[in-house]
Amino acid sequence: MNIVSLFSGAGGLDLGLIQAGHEIIWANDIDADSCETYKLNIGNHIICKDISRIGLDEIPDCDIIVGGFPCQGFSMANMLRAADDQRNQLYKQFYRIIKGKKPDYFIAENVRGILSLDNGNVIKKIVQDFSDAGYRVKYKAFNTADYGVPQTRIRVIIAGTRKDLPEETDFQFPEPTHDKTIWVSISTALRGIPEPEDPKCKLKNHIYSKYKITNRNFTGHRETDPNKPSPTILARGNGKGGVCAIQHPTNHRRMSIRESALVQTFPLNFEFVGSMGSMYRQVGNAVPVLFGQHLGKRLKELESILI
Ligand SMILES: C[S@@+](CC[C@H](N)C(=O)[O-])C[C@H]1O[C@@H](n2cnc3c(N)ncnc32)[C@H](O)[C@@H]1O
Repeated sequence: MNIVSLFSGAGGLDLGLIQAGHEIIWANDIDADSCETYKLNIGNHIICKDISRIGLDEIPDCDIIVGGFPCQGFSMANMLRAADDQRNQLYKQFYRIIKGKKPDYFIAENVRGILSLDNGNVIKKIVQDFSDAGYRVKYKAFNTADYGVPQTRIRVIIAGTRKDLPEETDFQFPEPTHDKTIWVSISTALRGIPEPEDPKCKLKNHIYSKYKITNRNFTGHRETDPNKPSPTILARGNGKGGVCAIQHPTNHRRMSIRESALVQTFPLNFEFVGSMGSMYRQVGNAVPVLFGQHLGKRLKELESILI
């Protein structure tokens, strides 16, 4: 099925969908470095522009629209009507495009916090808005470690099937493949990766933040257990202009961009572009490629029912 990708970032989700056999026909992000990374590794079909400046006629018709609309801190229960609230703008853009293009399916990724915003009223409103726009909507929180990703990253997927399609073609969430007893550890994911200082090391993006390691027992400041999946790879800043990369499992330095990307299940040859802070942010923003692949496989099954 043909896919349009919004808020595509470096392309973690898109790469997973491509690996599952789909074609991304058009993508968009506002961030120049993310678009360069995307072009280098995925394709030239990404448009680098603010989504609010893109008309519906500039977006091709498609079967599926995917995208994680950033939702930093919005809390208005009636998000579509709160026209001048800047925090709702990106949600409203996603909604505008789904309503205007009417794809068969949409899939939106978001942080777990979206479920508790405004005491759960925000997610209720999202479901209502998309239902009014003509979709059967469902949502669920997933721990990506349950899908073979070496990281306990929890993300919410909101999925919609257009109401005129038969119910047996509703998008079905992927079933877990890894229970806790077989979660992939961070050491397994990083096995064989040389130290960045090794003069023989030819790996791309194998550089790391020198932001001091202090164990203060909050995110980014905890020891990393080598025998467990990694904690969530962050895109958030360290409060001093850099990105707060998590500790390498030896706990003697922070993980490099390459290592963070491996934990996000990007292939070794996927190369990021930009400053160190920008590259860490692109990696941390991504949907793990392997989780994207699981979503893509579910969409692939629908393809055979719809034909
Ligand atoms: C969570 S990231 C998406 C990551 C992506 N799904 C992946 O798997 O790699 C959200 C993206 O929204 C982009 N974004 C924020 N505001 C935007 C705007 N006004 N127009 C287009 N993209 C925007 C950011 O640059 C960021 O890359």
